[in-house]
Amino acid sequence: MQAVAVENLSKTYQSGKRALHGISFTIEPGEIFGFLGPNGAGKTTTVKLLGGMLTPTEGHCRVFDLTPNENPAAIHKISGFVTEHAQMYDNMTGMENLLFYASIFGMSEKAGKDRAQELLDRLSLTEAREQKLSSYSTGMRQRLSLARALLHSPKILFLDEPTSGLDPESAKNVNTLIRHLASENGTTVFLCTHQLRYAQEICTCYGLISSGTLLACGTLEELRDRVTTHIPVTIHADYVPENLHLMKKEPGIYTAAVTAETEIPNIVKAIVESGGRIYHVSAGELTLEEIYFRFLEKNKQKEEHK
Ligand SMILES: Nc1ncnc2c1ncn2[C@@H]1O[C@H](COP(=O)(O)OP(=O)(O)OP(=O)(O)O)[C@@H](O)[C@H]1O
Ligand SMILES: [Mg+2]
Repeated sequence: MQAVAVENLSKTYQSGKRALHGISFTIEPGEIFGFLGPNGAGKTTTVKLLGGMLTPTEGHCRVFDLTPNENPAAIHKISGFVTEHAQMYDNMTGMENLLFYASIFGMSEKAGKDRAQELLDRLSLTEAREQKLSSYSTGMRQRLSLARALLHSPKILFLDEPTSGLDPESAKNVNTLIRHLASENGTTVFLCTHQLRYAQEICTCYGLISSGTLLACGTLEELRDRVTTHIPVTIHADYVPENLHLMKKEPGIYTAAVTAETEIPNIVKAIVESGGRIYHVSAGELTLEEIYFRFLEKNKQKEEHK
């Protein structure tokens, strides 16, 4: 059973705005899926459809075989949501908020308290547990919202920009927690984010969306293969034979552009056989950020030629 299955999903809001144009993708259980795209791409709309908060205009979506808008209660039992505007109670303390939601999730008082304490500790909120939410900073609220989403140990966690208001250290803590959840408990994570560096650190696969259209889906390697035609190779050597046609960048540093990594050993062999000594070889790889911009650029060019 797939964790998420989206098929030809479209959403047009009442205003007439078509936010999603027939997107299709699947996510296997245990994956950390990074859903990436510019502002207004349709990420939050997709999360709301998967949470049963919106009804598709066309197409289908399923979360662990459940149809969200037909069965929202069952979806919320197995899912945790951290949305852009987490609403909790300002006049209650962090602990009181969590205990309140634990009771809504049907947890016993003892189980709720133990789990709340564990999550407050893991999210560095132990000291703030008895403080009213009104005194919490944006980052503290976001972490408490994550704790709330995790109270009932969901099978799948939807995170809509969970680290946007967090300082680098808190963002790192949240990312470590997300990674632990996936590796220890097999929790599936659906992560909408603009923070591509963090995404590359924790995600196991990606979906790239722009203007309601899915541009690409796959692992980093799969996406990289789709946009990379040449791999830049840098070689530090005291001599290279001319017939290799390497570019001399500066004395002792040569560059080449190969179409596959398997070409690199042949270049190295040819240099060594001609008497050259090699000190260093490195092959450049596109980062997630570079891949993301290449896909957006490709899409822009496609749109302009329409
Ligand atoms: N309730 C609504 N009524 C009408 N249009 C909406 C509504 N909600 C969102 N939209 C529009 O749908 C499109 C997709 O919005 P969505 O919030 O899904 O984007 P997003 O990818 O989450 O963007 P961001 O990165 O800014 O959070 C946008 O053009 C937005 O203006
Ligand atoms: Mg959004």
